[in-house]
Amino acid sequence: MASVSIQHVTKQFGTTTVLRDFNEEFRDGEFVTLLGPSGCGKTTMLRMIAGFERPTSGEIRIGETLVSGEKTFVPPEQRGIGMVFQSYAVWPHMNVFSNVAYPLQIRHTARKETEDRVNRILEVVHLAQYAKRLPNQLSGGQQQRIALARALVAEPELLLLDEPLSNLDAKLRESMRFEIKELTRKLGITVVYVTHDQTEAMAMSDRIFLINNGIVQQSGTPEEIYNHPANPFAADFLGKVDFFEGTAGNGKIHLTAWNADLPDPEGQASGPVQVAVRPENILLGGPGEGIPGVMTRMYYLGDSTDCRVRVGETEIRVIGDGFAYHRFREGEEVSLTVRSYRVFSGENVEEQLKIRT
Ligand SMILES: Nc1ncnc2c1ncn2[C@@H]1O[C@H](COP(=O)(O)OP(=O)(O)O)[C@@H](O)[C@H]1O
Ligand SMILES: [Mg+2]
Repeated sequence: MASVSIQHVTKQFGTTTVLRDFNEEFRDGEFVTLLGPSGCGKTTMLRMIAGFERPTSGEIRIGETLVSGEKTFVPPEQRGIGMVFQSYAVWPHMNVFSNVAYPLQIRHTARKETEDRVNRILEVVHLAQYAKRLPNQLSGGQQQRIALARALVAEPELLLLDEPLSNLDAKLRESMRFEIKELTRKLGITVVYVTHDQTEAMAMSDRIFLINNGIVQQSGTPEEIYNHPANPFAADFLGKVDFFEGTAGNGKIHLTAWNADLPDPEGQASGPVQVAVRPENILLGGPGEGIPGVMTRMYYLGDSTDCRVRVGETEIRVIGDGFAYHRFREGEEVSLTVRSYRVFSGENVEEQLKIRT
């Protein structure tokens, strides 16, 4: 069993609090991602799970075992964890086989068993035919897979990955996402993955823990966070969003700049609100089909069309499908329908976007 239980963990460096009362459970076999802007405390959390850093207060359990507590501290090598960091180090003078065999050799695993296990894991990461090569004879993605194989060869129940794809080019990064996801699913291991890249987090995770300022802002499946962001920060960090000021009352939201009303989805809001709208959730139509506006700009992106529509004095971003480029013209009258949005109370969205403590 490799569930991870983090109970009321706080971490301070000197007088700075980096993580505050982190209190979450990661389930056995789950792929969880710690997502957030640079400096929000992701690596620090991972290093505490690994045992390279001690919490200032709180407890960490791996499975049933208390590994970090007031009077307990299990060192990293006894935690049974596999790890790959951003600057994955493969030994340049050792061939692929020896690089991957290393963790077994330092445990004095028998030679035959070492061979079997290394060969098996090299098959899994599609490197079997390169076993005798030196790392510098391989591509960046292949070298990254050496690091992954080395982390997996000892068959850890828990794998910690800290921005392992950030040094790779875009295409490779995309294919490695799926490889890591499939591989760890096949092996049934629990993965705690750290990234600041929201697309990567969305593509890979069973659950995302979105962190800002040392606090978990929201946790949930990618779909939950994307469609039901808990606060403006969450709405803004995952995907594209624009905020519009409005006034709520009587089950309606009046959008000031649009001079239009939207239904209040929960019927509860009153007073000043901020309405978060994703540009792909605004539908374009011909004149008279919705809120009137004028198409001012269209950018053809192939699979989509990035548009600006002027409503009153406001330019609104609308992402239409690829065909929108051919259906509409710049300067033409169009109409907008907002199919989905979130309402947050309060006037000053800038404040809410910054920091919530
Ligand atoms: N050993 C340390 N001593 C002092 N400050 C640290 C130390 N490690 C990290 N920090 C600080 O803690 C904060 C969080 O860092 P980190 O966990 O690396 O963030 P992330 O991985 O999310 O970018 C940063 O402000 C960083 O400067
Ligand atoms: Mg980091």
